Amino acid sequence: MSGHTTAQCASTSDEQETVLQNKYMKEAEVYVNKLSRQLGRRPLCCVTTFGCQMNARDSEKLLGILTRIGYVSTESEEEADFVIYNTCTVRDNANQRVYGRLGFLNSLKRKKPHLKIALCGCMMQEHSVIEKIRRSYRFVDLIFGTHNIFKFAQLLVAMFENQEMIIDIWQETDQIVEDLPVSRKYPYKSGINIMFGCNNFCSYCIVPYVRGRERSRDPKEIIREIEHLVADGVVEVMLLGQNVNSYGKNLEEPITFAQLLREVEQIEGLQRIRFMTSHPKDLSDELIEVMRQSTKICRHLHLPVQAGSDRILKAMNRRYTKDQYLALVDKIKTAMPDIAITTDIIVGFPGETLADVEETIDVVRRVQYDNAFTFIYSKRTGTPAAAMDNQVPEEVVREGFDKLLKVVQDTARERAARLQGQVMEALVEEVNEQDASLLTGRLSNNMLVHFPAGNIRIGQLVQVSLDTCHGFYYTGHVIEA
Ligand code: SAH
Ligand code: SF4
Ligand code: F3S
Repeated sequence: MSGHTTAQCASTSDEQETVLQNKYMKEAEVYVNKLSRQLGRRPLCCVTTFGCQMNARDSEKLLGILTRIGYVSTESEEEADFVIYNTCTVRDNANQRVYGRLGFLNSLKRKKPHLKIALCGCMMQEHSVIEKIRRSYRFVDLIFGTHNIFKFAQLLVAMFENQEMIIDIWQETDQIVEDLPVSRKYPYKSGINIMFGCNNFCSYCIVPYVRGRERSRDPKEIIREIEHLVADGVVEVMLLGQNVNSYGKNLEEPITFAQLLREVEQIEGLQRIRFMTSHPKDLSDELIEVMRQSTKICRHLHLPVQAGSDRILKAMNRRYTKDQYLALVDKIKTAMPDIAITTDIIVGFPGETLADVEETIDVVRRVQYDNAFTFIYSKRTGTPAAAMDNQVPEEVVREGFDKLLKVVQDTARERAARLQGQVMEALVEEVNEQDASLLTGRLSNNMLVHFPAGNIRIGQLVQVSLDTCHGFYYTGHVIEA
């Protein structure tokens, strides 16, 4: 079998690791310079991200290293000399998209033999995926997983030195390597990892298997990173974790997520704070209070419910009931009447009937979500739900899904309409894609508003009048910059 696995070396301290990786970046730079001379230009790299915000942040880290060693970033896979897919495996359609596009990369590589291809991210933590790529996608140059992304520079050197496929997958790590380069997608906002992994083992979910056990970052490191970002022009941060509400529990000096937020709030120059994702079972009164008092934490809470039926919630191992969830939402809305609540819902979990879906619809009606991401259950090998023998027939899933989606959309539209005519603060994010005379801003509640540009710049906070609601976004005009 072709394929070369690099030695697993996790014995260095996290600080030593940073020094080591900087050394590998210098080595990799020599190879990239050589390639530049051959091509007569700087080589181009394209990092394509699948999946969640955590993966998006990881891609920024990959790009940070790639630009440090001399690559220039491009959005076009066709133009690139190096393509990296940062993959997701939360639902099967994410995997299928990767396989589909790998066929296209193969045809590119035939035309351009110097093209390098790397695969990383959650999908690569699955043994069956690695076997399939080894067998059927032999043109891939480098494969690594979620635990050793900090070793990217070292892996690149190995890739340049070898003709064979390099595979380096770790099952777990307790290393958190700080101070490696990051190339941010947006100058004015940034994601920040506050924790890695997940301990919840919801019975349908593959994330704990591919991202490992929960590990929190040292609060001092988080604060230091945000301070640097603010000094570099960032005004909004999104604190990232699979379950931010359990942040800090496993630290040597435990602290709560609410305490961390209090500290982040103190950072001068930082204007807005967001976070993702909150598990309802761990959302504390302390957090609600910190949010209520805060002037920086956005009025938006993503609170995945997944299902409304107690029987299904139990089988999902979510560890709350419908009533407990509704009581929590009540408490949050009483404390912050203007909060926008969004959610994730799965339809078609094993054993779910249309009567169960009605319970979910009831939750949607009662909570009045500002938005809900609805997913059809996808069987993930290795999870407890995949072994359940009462998988739901496709037609039943479809019927429940369509019914739910309609209620979700009607509710969201009603919620949005309520803000028409109000003046709200927006962070100017980009020039409108369809009409370059307009800018697009994001409200605290996470909705978008489009307005004439005037002499306003991207990254600025402005007061906007929400003149017309178009269902899921607004058009308006700036009152005050
Ligand atoms: N940690 C986050 C969710 C991460 S995955 C949380 O607990 O809220 C994002 C969403 O994908 C989940 O909220 C869930 O709705 C959905 N999801 C996860 N596994 C799935 C599966 N097997 N089939 C369909 N949807 C799934
Ligand atoms: Fe998956 Fe549940 Fe962990 Fe979210 S909390 S990542 S749904 S196991
Ligand atoms: Fe997907 Fe991994 Fe995120 S499986 S949803 S990219 S944690």
